[in-house]
Amino acid sequence: MGKELGLDLWIKRDDLTGFAGGGNKGRKIEYLLADVLRQEADTVITCGSSQSNFVRQLAAACSMHGLRLRAVTMDVPYDGPVGAPSGTRLVSKGGNLMLDDLLGAQVDILPDGTWDELFDAVETAADEERSAGRKVATIPIGGSSPVGAFGFVQAAAELDQSFDTIVVATSSGSTHTGLVYAFHGTSTRVIGVSCDPEPGLVAETLVPLAEGLDKITGQKKRLRESDFEYWLDWVGPGYAVFSDDGMAAIHRMARAEGIFLDPVYSAKSFAGLVGLAERGELSGRVLFWHTGGFPSLFAMP
Ligand SMILES: Cc1ncc(COP(=O)(O)O)c(C=O)c1O
Repeated sequence: MGKELGLDLWIKRDDLTGFAGGGNKGRKIEYLLADVLRQEADTVITCGSSQSNFVRQLAAACSMHGLRLRAVTMDVPYDGPVGAPSGTRLVSKGGNLMLDDLLGAQVDILPDGTWDELFDAVETAADEERSAGRKVATIPIGGSSPVGAFGFVQAAAELDQSFDTIVVATSSGSTHTGLVYAFHGTSTRVIGVSCDPEPGLVAETLVPLAEGLDKITGQKKRLRESDFEYWLDWVGPGYAVFSDDGMAAIHRMARAEGIFLDPVYSAKSFAGLVGLAERGELSGRVLFWHTGGFPSLFAMP
């Protein structure tokens, strides 16, 4: 497919990281779970969409360490001011939910509402668990804390050759932030293709995550908004709602390479890569960082 796009195209196969079905989240969970174990918690609470890949991998990690996982979810959470998107979306059965069940996680599925309502519901669930005498550790959506982002600073060190550009999906932000942090000051350009219609993500989330990375690593990179390249052009109708160019990317990648993309994240980021290549924005040696998400293909209507 690289030839068709006029690129020297490579793919980093984080869809094959292996743990609990693979994907980018295992890299964050490696560090996040260590933190939970240090807190001596017995119950972990997190949130996301009902087909969250993070919840699936976290469910496996918790189960392996004898911890209970309660995930508070909605099928399609949305930004209050933007409103609920319409269009085809994943269904709340099968796919990741089936695997969460297999792994023994408790997944609460609330009626769709805003992200703020979802985050409030996490607080309520944590209070309920504490009143029941449990020791609770809360992990933010998508594992996007500085500790989670550190997993992607470490991931960058796996590349044994240099690239002009890396293209990656961004949503809760720590994958993108970790990579930008790692390649800051080098000639590699890191492009985050957003899967959420959130123009404020860089200022509100990515910059603070990078500040947290400065504390963890002891470096003083002090990343600013202008250090992040963040594209919103391939979000489509909304988070977790299918886009036409994302669906085209799924078909194209499957048939050209035998590699599956998921409709919520990796399809939109690859659609971004194709779109940027067609606009003449990319050249040279380009790495598509495939973040996984394969199980949600089985939750397509
Ligand atoms: C398959 C997949 N790709 C990309 C992302 C985006 O990563 P992040 O949440 O770190 O921005 C996620 C999770 O949100 C995901 O599950």
